[in-house]
Amino acid sequence: MGRPEDVSSPGEGFRSPLIDAAHPSSARVYDYLLGGKDNFAADRDAADRIAEEFPAIRIGARENRRFLLRGVRHLAAEVGIRQFLDIGTGIPTSPNVHEVVQGITPAARIAYVDNDPIVLAHARALMVSDPSGRVGYLDADVRQPRSIIDSRLVREILDFTEPIALVLSAILHFIPDEQNPGDIVRMFVAALPPGSYVLATHVTPEHEPRLRPASAGYRADGVRTQARPAAEFEKLVFTSQGLELVDPGVVLVSRWRRDPADPPAPPPAQVSAYGGLALHKG
Ligand SMILES: C[S@@+](CC[C@H](N)C(=O)[O-])C[C@H]1O[C@@H](n2cnc3c(N)ncnc32)[C@H](O)[C@@H]1O
Repeated sequence: MGRPEDVSSPGEGFRSPLIDAAHPSSARVYDYLLGGKDNFAADRDAADRIAEEFPAIRIGARENRRFLLRGVRHLAAEVGIRQFLDIGTGIPTSPNVHEVVQGITPAARIAYVDNDPIVLAHARALMVSDPSGRVGYLDADVRQPRSIIDSRLVREILDFTEPIALVLSAILHFIPDEQNPGDIVRMFVAALPPGSYVLATHVTPEHEPRLRPASAGYRADGVRTQARPAAEFEKLVFTSQGLELVDPGVVLVSRWRRDPADPPAPPPAQVSAYGGLALHKG
């Protein structure tokens, strides 16, 4: 039914003039942490250095991904959301958001957005939609919300008069305070019609003191990060935007509506990421 058999994998031999293989990218580091093949030596070195300070980083990445998939499954199956705007998509990782969502609602429409050329290089794998739905990919920066909200591609895929789930999974810790993440989220929320949802996750320093030095190393590699405590994340994305958190609120991603099929939840220090889902009443 038009689903990808496998995600195309350029791997180490793959080069594009847009792709800077000499420096790590957050998308490729995350791909490596999840066991993917679309990364270069610079990404693996950066990930290994983070893992020296914070050995559980791979567990945290997997738990984040599980939360994301449980969240979108909940939205599609229990809430009936049929439109998704997933910003900071990442390199395709099976299953992708559209595979989970269209497995429940084949006619669902998903707009993916990322600003890393490696994700663009794989975008074809992200756009194999169920024929009754629609999936598209936009190369854009979350820090320029209007370039996303007003883009022709996003407008063709999503109907802004019907509820949309805005997905900001593991992206906001790449936006430090001086880049005004609150204003960015506010612009997106303002564009969403009532009945929409915001799903977000965020790395936290609260349970693992070694996470700060690990982030500092990542920053030295050219990737800016800002881990935030739960209260800061909750305010930034949900409460200051007037959103209504869905039960159980902002919790460790490992504790959010855990599936009985999931393995036992790892200890908080290994997870070190919070997640939440909230309703935009309008
Ligand atoms: C850790 S990955 C998360 C992937 C996926 N959302 C998930 O949770 O499994 C972060 C993604 O955010 C993207 N990203 C980082 N900064 C961005 C920006 N300013 N605009 C758009 N995408 C960005 C990266 O390229 C990367 O693909």
